[in-house]
Amino acid sequence: MNDAPLKILLDRETIARRVRELGEKITRDLREANLCVVPVMDGGMIFAADLMRGIHLPMTLSPIKASSYGDATISSGTVRLPCGTPEGIEGKDLLVVDDILDTGRTLEVLRIRFRAAGAASVRTCILLRKESASHLPADYIGFEIPEKFVVGYGLDLAGLHRNLPDIRVASSF
Ligand code: IMP
Ligand code: MG
Repeated sequence: MNDAPLKILLDRETIARRVRELGEKITRDLREANLCVVPVMDGGMIFAADLMRGIHLPMTLSPIKASSYGDATISSGTVRLPCGTPEGIEGKDLLVVDDILDTGRTLEVLRIRFRAAGAASVRTCILLRKESASHLPADYIGFEIPEKFVVGYGLDLAGLHRNLPDIRVASSF
């Protein structure tokens, strides 16, 4: 797929502004926390890298790898954690950072895992929430978006386009 025909949904300046706002809010809210940021790989890595630098608090970092889509644009329904649960989360106040809330299964699975692993608390910060997921809670949400399959800024289609600096619509699924 060529980058050019994909329509921009959120440009890089808009994303950067919102990520800064989220960082400021999290800095105010989590002053007392024993904070550990948990980027959900691979999709959440670029968002998490920018967000972390806008959170002015002591923090540790424990990424987790999760996958539910494979190469498709519709969720397989099964969330896999191919590398298991990371170390260093026991007793910590976790801030799970992911790219997008779609069916919500990823966050559901992660919440259960992290509680079982002894996390003190689990908060979630999601860059995008799809219309169909508007009933699913997250502590921090960047943007509400329509029911489209999007790529860029960490989000992929079959492994591609994660490096696009903007968020673009890949299809109308
Ligand atoms: P959920 O478990 O169905 O909420 O799906 C969350 C995961 O599915 C995200 O972390 C993404 O990796 C992937 N995903 C869902 N919608 C999209 C999309 O529009 N573009 C790219 N990846 C998506
Ligand atoms: Mg993904």
